[in-house]
Amino acid sequence: MTDASHANCANFQQYLLDEQATLELGQRLAAVLIAPVVIYLCGDLGAGKTTLSRGLLRGLGHRGSVKSPTYTIVEPYDLQPSPVYHFDLYRLGDPSELEYLGLRDYLGQSAVLIFEWPERGGAHMPAADIRVQLTPTDTGRDAVIEGQSERGFACVQSLDIGIDHYP
Ligand SMILES: Nc1ncnc2c1ncn2[C@@H]1O[C@H](COP(=O)(O)OP(=O)(O)OP(=O)(O)O)[C@@H](O)[C@H]1O
Ligand SMILES: [Mg+2]
Repeated sequence: MTDASHANCANFQQYLLDEQATLELGQRLAAVLIAPVVIYLCGDLGAGKTTLSRGLLRGLGHRGSVKSPTYTIVEPYDLQPSPVYHFDLYRLGDPSELEYLGLRDYLGQSAVLIFEWPERGGAHMPAADIRVQLTPTDTGRDAVIEGQSERGFACVQSLDIGIDHYP
């Protein structure tokens, strides 16, 4: 099997009927993650990126509320076994600001990095292991989850066949 055909297999799709379904998909994704991992959450305003992040954080062991990092750009979560950094780059003035947010330090840790609006980070973005696309439908959302690295493929394939890795 070539790498390209392998990549084509690492693609998971699901229709999300309501907010609860988005939260549950986040929790399911959390269960298959292998840190360090970089996750891009893509989709327009209101697509459900923060909702999916809440599910992810819940699945990774966070028990409190999850603030949208729209104004702070990044919210850290001191979780075990891996810290989680939840970014929202919507209001990033310039991609070079990412340098001042400690991104380099976070990449040196065995962390889970979640990015809303990764497109706004330009050339300063770390490559994604997993890319999630959320698209509004009539009332729900369509989710497509793609592995974009060997690590990402492994996670998404586990999602397909239901193997949990985390913690
Ligand atoms: N599957 C779903 N079906 C219907 N509504 C949903 C679904 N998932 C999330 N929502 C709702 O969509 C709204 C917007 O969600 P959310 O804030 O997560 O979007 P977002 O992509 O983070 O937006 P932004 O780009 O502004 O940060 C919320 O009211 C949430 O409850
Ligand atoms: Mg959001």
